[in-house]
Amino acid sequence: MTKQELCQKAVDMLKMAYVPYSRFPVGAALECDDGTVYTGCNIENAGYTPTNCAERTAVFKAVSEGERQFDAICIVGGKDGVLTEYAAPCGVCRQVLQEFAPDLEVILVNSRGETLDLTLRELLPYGFDNSYLG
Ligand code: THU
Repeated sequence: MTKQELCQKAVDMLKMAYVPYSRFPVGAALECDDGTVYTGCNIENAGYTPTNCAERTAVFKAVSEGERQFDAICIVGGKDGVLTEYAAPCGVCRQVLQEFAPDLEVILVNSRGETLDLTLRELLPYGFDNSYLG
């Protein structure tokens, strides 16, 4: 799948987001090394903390289907569904992505259709990982 197709899948997920509290939908599309793509959206909760981000929805869908090798994730989001600036992944999502794909390509898209390509290592330097646990 091309980068543009992956980003379109992330954009398509904005409409699935359940965001009555923040009105900030986020969509994600995660490409596995076998080419399969898992999508995700954020799912909020009246208790606030049970909220699940779009990236983690995508990762958890993928891992629960047996996938553990990931090449790239595209993330988009914006207030009231209007993309403005790049929507960077939160710290918790960076940690979850690191567990399976420390070298993951992270693609962000802004309102002008420009993309920002980052690696997870750039987003989470000196991360705590399984190497500490022996
Ligand atoms: N959100 C995500 O889905 N991904 C992130 O990495 C950042 C934040 C969601 C959580 C919440 O539903 C809304 O954006 C506002 O924080």
